Amino acid sequence: MPRVSAAFFMTGALCLAMGMCWGIAMAVSQNFALAPAHAHLNLLGWVTMSIYGTFYALTRETLSPRLAWINYVCATLGVAVMIPTLAVFLATGNQALEPVIGIGSLLSLIALLTFAISAFRELKRPRL
Ligand code: HEM
Repeated sequence: MPRVSAAFFMTGALCLAMGMCWGIAMAVSQNFALAPAHAHLNLLGWVTMSIYGTFYALTRETLSPRLAWINYVCATLGVAVMIPTLAVFLATGNQALEPVIGIGSLLSLIALLTFAISAFRELKRPRL
């Protein structure tokens, strides 16, 4: 497995561990106000990262390491910026935080675009 895939899976597992603890805390406290942030941590941090990691593991012979690492850095920064800010926004309603959530979302979108370029390279590469 290429190192970038292991990095995606390691980061994804950390996000899932945090997301599960967060879900358990919501269930215990019966306070679901932060449920959207919990859901985005699990979906962007665990599900999406695992799919990226699986793709690069499957294309280890032909991947562009530079694109794959840009994908990883943007995806990780996107989660790191967006999720805590979204949680504080949900808890406080502070609208000044909205642009920061937007920056996190854009980083996640850039990560997806680099993934799409990688997928397109794989689609177009010559085959025997
Ligand atoms: C230990 C594991 C988990 C626990 C204890 C947990 C717990 C919870 C709780 C208590 C809620 C709020 C329910 C409500 O509003 O009535 C919730 C919502 C949600 N969770 Fe989890 N969860 C877990 C794992 C996951 C995972 C792995 C995912 C996705 C991959 C996920 C996605 C969602 C989504 C999409 C929502 C709905 C959010 C919303 O309504 O805004 N959860 N979860």
